[in-house]
Amino acid sequence: MPQANKMGMNKTGMAMSPIQGKQMMEGAKELTQAGPISFAAMEKIRSDYASPDDYIGTVPVPDSFKGMLSAGKEKIQGHNPEVLINKLGQRLAFERTGVRIYDALIFKCETINDPISKEVISIDSLKHFRDEEAEHFFLLKEVIESLGADPTAMTPDADVSALASMGIPKVLMEPRTTVLQCLEAVQTTELTDNAAWEVLIKLCNNMGMSELADKFSKPLKQEKTHAETIKNWINKLALMQAGTM
Ligand SMILES: [Fe+2]
Ligand SMILES: [Fe+2]
Repeated sequence: MPQANKMGMNKTGMAMSPIQGKQMMEGAKELTQAGPISFAAMEKIRSDYASPDDYIGTVPVPDSFKGMLSAGKEKIQGHNPEVLINKLGQRLAFERTGVRIYDALIFKCETINDPISKEVISIDSLKHFRDEEAEHFFLLKEVIESLGADPTAMTPDADVSALASMGIPKVLMEPRTTVLQCLEAVQTTELTDNAAWEVLIKLCNNMGMSELADKFSKPLKQEKTHAETIKNWINKLALMQAGTM
C-alpha cells in the first residue's frame, strides 16, 4: 500500500479535538454576530485594483509585422495578429515546461519503490511523451520565427500560464509525493494543454492561416494521447491501490 493511503495520526480534522472544536464553533457564532460590518472601504480598494490601467506584460510584435504579412498578407488584415503572437508564445513556454515536467515524472517513476506503479506505468511512453513536448516546443519556435517574432520573449499569456501552473513542478519535485499524486498533477497540465492547442488551431483558422492550423493538428492529436494515457494510468493505479482490480 503506498504511503499516501497509510492510516495514521492525522490531526487536521476538528473531530480530533472535540472540546476545542465545540469552543471554536461557539466562537465562530459570536464572530458572525459581530456585524453589521461595512466592507465599503475594502470594496473600494479592491475595485480600484480590479480595474487597472495596467496589464501583465506586452506582446512583442515586430513593428512592421514583416514576417506575418508575408505569411498571409491579405488574410491577416483586419485581424489582431498580436493575439496570435501572444498565444503562440504561451504555447511555446508551456511546452518547454512540459518537457521539464515529464523529466521530473520519469525520474520519480524510475526511482520510486512502488511495484504497482512499476506495473502500470510505461517509462518508454513517458519518454516518448517528453520527446513530443520537446518537438512541439521546436515547432512553435520555428513558427514564431517565421512570423518575424521573437520566440525568446515572454508574452503576457505565457507569463500568466506559468503563474497558474506553479504548483505542478512542486508536486513532482516533492520527495514525499507518490506516482499517482504526480500523475494527477500532470493530468491538469495535459488537460490545459489540449484545450489550449484547440484554441490556437481555431485562432489560426479564423485568421485565415489554415496552413498553420494544419501544422498544429499533429501536436493536438499527440496531446490527446498524452491526456488519455495519463487518465487511464490514474484510473488503474487508484483501482489497484484500492484492491478492486
Ligand atoms: Fe504539450
Ligand atoms: Fe502533453
